[in-house]
Amino acid sequence: MASWGFYGRRTELAEVQTLLDRDQFFFCAISGRRRIGKTSLIQEALRRKGQSLRALYVQIPDSDERGVIQVFEDAVEDILLDQDLARRTCGDFSDIAGLLRALWRTNFVTAIDEFQYFHRKALASFLSYLQLQVDDARAGDSRGLCGDTGTSRMVRTSKSTSWR
Ligand SMILES: Nc1ncnc2c1ncn2[C@@H]1O[C@H](COP(=O)(O)OP(=O)(O)O)[C@@H](O)[C@H]1O
Ligand SMILES: [Mg+2]
Repeated sequence: MASWGFYGRRTELAEVQTLLDRDQFFFCAISGRRRIGKTSLIQEALRRKGQSLRALYVQIPDSDERGVIQVFEDAVEDILLDQDLARRTCGDFSDIAGLLRALWRTNFVTAIDEFQYFHRKALASFLSYLQLQVDDARAGDSRGLCGDTGTSRMVRTSKSTSWR
């Protein structure tokens, strides 16, 4: 099927791109009603940065903790190209929050789409772990961007050393 591509949203795209270019921690929440274009906006902003930006994008599934961990594990495996290492890195929610912080330190943007699922009781512990890491990053050297209560979330850090 032919793709119609991305159109419009110039202001929003410019705002996200400005954040992606920042050398400080940022945390950007993007919210809006269903199918308004939150996921498309984030994916387009990341796509336009191309190879110049390292990003981890995950879409949180409507599932239990195990299912959420699996999604992170798959995304991390795409970066590390090592399934065993990805599994060890994403053992539990605490590990994953720590991993995000490590990624911000190495200038990754992390985008967490469908973030609202973390407000469910079964997944809510992740919010505490993430909050700790965000507080730490804000106080320190890195920067982050985050998206949405209804959808997408991104976090990013400083331009310094590489991930591997
Ligand atoms: N700027 C855009 N240009 C073209 N198509 C878009 C744009 N924004 C959204 N869409 C299309 O609208 C639909 C819903 O967008 P999506 O990004 O999934 O919304 P949300 O994440 O807010 O639920 C998708 O089919 C997507 O391809
Ligand atoms: Mg979406």
